This record gives sequence, structure tokens and C-alpha cells, in this order.
Amino acid sequence: MTSCINLKIWLLNLTIFTMFAITYGGRHLLTQNPEFQVKAVNLGGWLVTEGWMKPSLFDGIPNKDLLDGTGLQFKSVTTGKYLCAESGGGTILVANRSTASGWETFSLWRINENAFRFRVFNKQFVGLNGINAVALTNTPTDSATFDVIKESDSSNRVRIKASNGYYLQAKTEVLVTADVSHVSGWREDDPTVFEMRITGGLKGEFQLTNGYGPIKAPQIMKEHWSTFIVEEDFKFIANNGLNAVRIPVGWWIASDPSPPRPYVEGSLNTLDNAFLWAEKYGLKIIIDLHAAPGSQNGDEHSSSRDGSLEWGQSDETIQQTVQVIDFLTARYTKSPSLYAVALLNEPRSPGATLESLNKYYKAGYEAVRKHSSKAYVVFSNRLSSPDPREFFNVANGLTRTVIDVHYYNAFGDFFKSMTAQQNIDYIYNDRKAELNYLTTSNGPLVLVGEWVAEWQLQGATKEDYQRFAKAQLDVYGQATFGWAYWSYKNSVNHWSMEWMIKNGYIKF
Ligand SMILES: *[C@@H]1O[C@H](CO)[C@@H](O)[C@H](O)[C@H]1NC(C)=O
Repeated sequence: MTSCINLKIWLLNLTIFTMFAITYGGRHLLTQNPEFQVKAVNLGGWLVTEGWMKPSLFDGIPNKDLLDGTGLQFKSVTTGKYLCAESGGGTILVANRSTASGWETFSLWRINENAFRFRVFNKQFVGLNGINAVALTNTPTDSATFDVIKESDSSNRVRIKASNGYYLQAKTEVLVTADVSHVSGWREDDPTVFEMRITGGLKGEFQLTNGYGPIKAPQIMKEHWSTFIVEEDFKFIANNGLNAVRIPVGWWIASDPSPPRPYVEGSLNTLDNAFLWAEKYGLKIIIDLHAAPGSQNGDEHSSSRDGSLEWGQSDETIQQTVQVIDFLTARYTKSPSLYAVALLNEPRSPGATLESLNKYYKAGYEAVRKHSSKAYVVFSNRLSSPDPREFFNVANGLTRTVIDVHYYNAFGDFFKSMTAQQNIDYIYNDRKAELNYLTTSNGPLVLVGEWVAEWQLQGATKEDYQRFAKAQLDVYGQATFGWAYWSYKNSVNHWSMEWMIKNGYIKF
């Protein structure tokens, strides 16, 4: 009886497998599995991003609403109009706009808690030409530095003092000058007074370290690194069915202990510790270069200073990044825990071009191979990539390469109004189809390097979450290289795998 049922099940499986094989053109899904499949968790938050750590870490920064990359808009109290870099930059500042968006937004470069540079839409910095306010220079200079003086902490009224010692005024709607030496009060008829509006910003490692400055930042970071994720966590990860960690690092790790300002000493020691603990508890490590010089996506997690994406626009940034890969592989190649090197997390299309990435991925691969024939080399697909196979050409002919895709239903309008079941169906249908499309018998392996059992659905039950997590484990469990949850620790419960495990939301 039992064997009869077993036979039936076996036949059924065979049929399903055959149909599957036919459907996907005979591609053998698991033919080129590596030694084992990665079941990993991302150690998000060691590299600072506000959302992935203790948000309160930013609280002690003086003038903490004016961090690098914060967007500011200034409305003149006399003209009632906004300051604007005419044409988006490259010419004068005016004060004649009744609404504010791109050209009227000034992105901060923080010099200290009072002094700032203002970067305009087309990337020039605000400076002076004689006494006239202009946005002409692409290189930040001392003359392009301004003090922002607030009426009080609770007021949005400010004055802006230029490097010549004079205050900016909206003299007329088409003339902004730095020629007022004495001011008093905050009256409505004073052309040096502006109402300041903040339009979002970034909170990554650049903002944190530059915000605290060279005395305080090293202490804050040291404290963070020594308490946020510790040896106990590696033990917990290993004891709960996971076999690897993906560790985001920033490019400045290669110049530790004296990284360029504002970064501070200590990130390398953190990674050294991770290797010690991973070896002790039998975990593999995927080193993930999450922040490249100039920023490959303009996000805070790639340590963009002001939201710009400038990586790959010069050969220098590419070469510098290759050096970082070279350095990291050389340092850890002897560790049995070094499993893979992910060359660059989430470059964004079209700013990070296919051309620069093809070049970089090739050079990065060589840099890994110089020290290790064994480590897998991971190529991350671009955000907004038009084709998930766009790096198959580079991978072609190289050994032990992996394509990394990141799957989130937690972002984007597309998923906004989906029910629990629709989210789950999307995983079983669309995600699975894409993974199948990526899975080839002689091409690169596939890693789902980031995913989370979180969505945009409100009021979901625990069971909904469990089903959503399981759906993703079912589907991403078929990725030939494996998967990695984002992330291990987080102040928001479902984003924390530690919390999900401890509270019975996820099992493997
Ligand atoms: C603002 O002033 C500039 C410079 O005179 C002019 O080119 C532009 O058209 C004006 N814009 C508005 C909305 O008045």
C-alpha cells in the first residue's frame, strides 16, 4: 500500500518534472549547483543606513536636520517667491519662482554644523560672481561656502551668509546678491530673510560620520560596531539553519585605519571579526561591496553624499573600485569562510552604464582570480535593468560566476494595492518565471541576494506573513546559488530575520 502510494507520488513528480523541463526548454534547473546552496542573511546596518540600524544613532548630531544631501528650498519673505538656480544651474540665481521643485532645490554639502555648500540641479555649486549669487562652478571652493543662520530652533526663518561676510538678499525677483552687512530682527520686509523648507535627505554612513565630525564620529561608530552585531549573532545565525552571511562594506574599508574623511577607522576590524566568528561557527561569507566611490545608485546605502550617482563616470572610480576588490580578496582568500565576492551592489540603470559595468565586472573578476580560483564572483543586476540577462555576456567563459537579483514587493506602486494572496501568487508566478529565465545550464549561477517577507499590505495576519515567507523560500530556494534575507537586525520587525525566527514567522 505504502509503496503503491510512493510509486504514484514518484510518477507524479516525474510528470511534473518532465512538464517543467519541456516548459523551460529543457533547461536543467539544478545541474550546476555549487557545493551547497547559500541560505544567508544580510548583515545590513554595519554599514550605516538609518533604516537598517538603530535610527537613534543620528539623534546626537548637532543641527541634525541639515545633513549632507538634505534638499532645501528658500522662499523670500519680500518677493514671496522661491530662490532658483536659473536653467537648473550654469548661470545666475533668481528669486522669481512661485512653486518649488528641482531647480529650486539646493542639496547640502555640510562643512560643519553651521557652514554648507549648496549643490544645484545640474550639479554646480552656488557661489559668488562679484556680489551676485551664481551657480557656475563644478568644483566646491571656499568661496562657495555659506552659513545658514536660523531665527531659532523652532522657526523656519533663516538668513544665508556668504563667504564675503555679507548676507544674501533677494534684491529683486531677478537679482540675488551678497551685499548686506548688518541685519536685525526677522521682519516681513527684510530681503535677507527666507523661509526654509526641507525636502527630504539621506541618512547613510557619509551623513552620520560627517554629521558628528572628526572627534565624535569615531566614538559613535566604534560603539555601533561593537554592539550592533556581535559574536552571539553569528552563533544564532548558525544555530537556526542558515549557512552564510552577506556582508555589505564600503569602498573606504580598503584604506582603513585611515580612510578619507569623513569616514572613520574601524570597518576593517569589523570584517576581520566577522571572518573569525564565521569560521568558528561554520558560516560562509559573501563580501558585498555595497558602496563604491561616487555612488553607483545615488542612495544612502551606497553612501552617496547628496543623492548623485557618479560611479563609473570616470575610469578613476572604476580603477579605485577594482583596487578595493583586490584588497579584500587578498586579505581573506585563506579563510575557509570566504565563499563569494559581490563586486557591486545595485548599480542603477541608466546612470551606471552597461559599458562601465561590463568593463568593471571583467576587471573585478580578474582581481578576485588573482588571489582566489575558488571564490565565486557575483555580478549584481542593475536596478531598473531592462534585461535580467544583461550580464550574461560578461559571465560567458568565466568560471564560478553568479548573477545577483533583488526581489522586493515592499517598494513600488506596482505592489501597492495587492492583497496577501496576490503578493504570494506574484512570487509563484512572476518571480519564478524570471528565475527560470535566468537559470541556464552553462551560464552563471543565480543568487537572490536580497528579499524580505514584508509588503505594502496593511493589517496582514501572522499566517499571511508565514505564507508569504514560505512562498519566497519555495521559489528562491530554487535559485542555483541560493538566497539572502534582508536583513538580520532591524528596528522594524519583519525586516529583521532575527525577530522573524524568534517569533515563529519563518522556518527553514
Ligand atoms: C525669472 O527670471 C529669469 C531671469 O530674468 C527669467 O529668465 C525667467 O523667465 C523668470 N521666470 C519666471 C517664472 O518669472
